[in-house]
Amino acid sequence: MEKPKLLIVDDDESILLSMKWAFAQEYEILLAGNRQEALEIFKREHPALVTLDLGLPPDARGVEEGFLTLSSLISENPYTKVIIISGQEEKQNALMAIGQGAYDFFCKPVQVEEVSIILRRAFRVHQLESEHRTLQATRAEDSFMELIGTSSQIQQVFSIIEKVAATEAPVLILGESGTGKELVARALHGRSLRKAGPFIPINCAAIPETLLESELFGHEKGAYTGAHTQRKGRIEMADGGTLFLDEIGDLPSSLQVKLLRFLQEHTIERIGGRKEIAINSRVIAATNRDIDQAIRDGSFREDLFYRLGVVKIMVPPLRDREGDIALLSTTFVRKYAEENKKKLLGLTKKALTALSNHKWPGNVRELENRIRRAVIMAQSSKITDDDLELDVVEESGRTTLREARERTDRELILRVLSENNWNLAKSASDLGISRPSLYDLMEKLGIKK
Ligand SMILES: Nc1ncnc2c1ncn2[C@@H]1O[C@H](COP(=O)(O)OP(=O)(O)OP(=O)(O)O)[C@@H](O)[C@H]1O
Ligand SMILES: [Mg+2]
Repeated sequence: MEKPKLLIVDDDESILLSMKWAFAQEYEILLAGNRQEALEIFKREHPALVTLDLGLPPDARGVEEGFLTLSSLISENPYTKVIIISGQEEKQNALMAIGQGAYDFFCKPVQVEEVSIILRRAFRVHQLESEHRTLQATRAEDSFMELIGTSSQIQQVFSIIEKVAATEAPVLILGESGTGKELVARALHGRSLRKAGPFIPINCAAIPETLLESELFGHEKGAYTGAHTQRKGRIEMADGGTLFLDEIGDLPSSLQVKLLRFLQEHTIERIGGRKEIAINSRVIAATNRDIDQAIRDGSFREDLFYRLGVVKIMVPPLRDREGDIALLSTTFVRKYAEENKKKLLGLTKKALTALSNHKWPGNVRELENRIRRAVIMAQSSKITDDDLELDVVEESGRTTLREARERTDRELILRVLSENNWNLAKSASDLGISRPSLYDLMEKLGIKK
C-alpha cells in the first residue's frame, strides 16, 4: 500500500529534519519552510496530513503567517487534516486554529510518541471520511432519493418502502408536517415498476374546492362557463405512473365519493363528459391530519380510508429519530454552503447541542430552513447556535480540550469497533495502537459492547 503523504511546514530546520527522520517509515514526507512553499506542495501533492508551525517567516515570532497558511490550506481542501504545532505559551492560538478548522495540535518540544498517535488518528479519520464520501457518491443512484437517516425509526420506513414499492397497492403516508411524506411518496414511485411513468402530485388542501374537481378529473369543452377547451385532469395525467394525493385529509366530501369510485373502478369521467376513461395508475396519498379523528367526526369517509390505506406508512417526527438531526444538519450545511459558495466546516459543538435539544415542531422542513438561513448568516468557519437562532441549554458548562479529545476518541473507537464487529485485535491494529492500549482506552472512556 502507498504511504500516506505528510506535509511538514516549519521554519526550523532542525524540527523539519527530526520529524522527517521520525516519520519517514510510515509517511511520504514533504517539507516546506514557508507559506508559499507549503501551498505549492499542497496543491501538487494533495497530502492527507499537514503539521503546521504557526510561527512562519516573515513573522516567525507572531502567528499571522501561520493562520493565513491554515486558511489557504483548508479552503484548498477542507478534508485535509491540519495539525498545529505551537509553543507552550500559545495554547490559546492553537485552540483558535482548531476553531478555524485545524484538526488537532501539539506543543513543543515535539514528543515523537504523542505526535505519532495524533497523526495516525488523524489519518484514520481522514480515511473513514473519504470512504464515506465514496460510498455516498456511488450509492446516490439507488438510494432513497433524497431521504437520509440512520435512526432505527427511519430505517424502518426505508424497509417498508423497499417492500411495497414494487407492488401496486395503494399507500397512505401519515406523519406530522415536514417529516418527509412527499419524499417517501417519490421514493416509492422511484423504486416501482412505474418509475419510467409520470409522478403527478396534487395538493388537495391548496386548491379551492370549486377548482379541485376539474383539477382532478378534467373537463370537456363547454362543461361550464369558462371551460373553453377540453382539459385533462391530474388523475388522467398519472396514467401509466403514480398519482400522489397530498393532504388527502382536506378533500371535500363531495369529491371523496368520486375518488372512491375511481379507486374501485379504475375509470373516470371528465366533467361534462359522457364516456368512461380507463386509467392505470397507482395511488399514493398523504396527510398530516389525525385521520382517525376525522373518520370519527364524519369528515372523512371510512370506506375511502380503507381503500387508500391498504398499506400505511407512518413517518416519525424528527425529535424521535435519534442521531438523524446531526446527520441531516451536516448534510444541509454542505448543500447550502455549496449553493451559497461559502466555505463552511460544519457546526460548533454548542450548535449541535442546541439542535438536539430543540423539539422541531416543523420537523425536517424546519431544520432545513434554519440551516439554510444560518449558512447565509454565518460569519466564521462553523455555524453557531446564534446563527441558528436557537436557545442553548448548557449541559455542564464549558468543554475542556480534554473532554473534546475524549469525545473524538470515543466516537472513533466506537466506529472502528463496530466496523470490525468488536474484534479488539483488528480494531487496535486499525487504530494503530496495541490491544492493551485499546482495552485501557475503552475502560477509561467507558466503552462497552
Ligand atoms: N429524511 C430526509 N432526508 C433529507 N431531506 C428530507 C428528509 N425528510 C424531509 N426532507 C426535506 O424536508 C422538507 C420537507 O419534506 P416533505 O415536503 O417531504 O415533508 P411533508 O411531510 O410532505 O411535509 P408537509 O406535511 O408539510 O407537506 C423537504 O425539503 C425535504 O427535502
Ligand atoms: Mg407534503
